[in-house]
Amino acid sequence: MAIPTDAELLAMAQAAAHHAYVPYSHFPVGAVLLTEGGQVIPGCNVENASYGLTICAERTAVTRMVARQIEDRRIEVAAVVGLKASPCFPCGACRQVLHEFGCRFVVVEEDGEPRRYPFAQILPHGFGPSDLDNS
Ligand code: THU
Repeated sequence: MAIPTDAELLAMAQAAAHHAYVPYSHFPVGAVLLTEGGQVIPGCNVENASYGLTICAERTAVTRMVARQIEDRRIEVAAVVGLKASPCFPCGACRQVLHEFGCRFVVVEEDGEPRRYPFAQILPHGFGPSDLDNS
């Protein structure tokens, strides 16, 4: 299958957002990961009556990626759509989790168009797995 375009990734993230479980915030978010091997993995936010247990769309997608046991766990692109916010950038916790798996780009929708950001711009000086080697 051909590698999806950024617009296609956003369309898939939007579709995923429609599966969100958001009875408290009413703020549906969808995320799609494109791995370096070309796998596409969607996620949506899942809230809880114990509010702090909410899982964001991006982290839902990351846990799905890991659970799928795909060999290639490197994230090329994370595309994020908030049905009530455009652009919808990943929160700080999700930036950290995306960084763990080498995320290279984040795509959001700005003025109706896909906009691609290098991950270092999204999370400057991020702490990641390789930093543990320097101890
Ligand atoms: N949310 C995400 O799913 N991803 C983000 O990066 C930002 C926030 C969700 C969490 C919560 O369910 C709702 O948006 C409002 O914060």
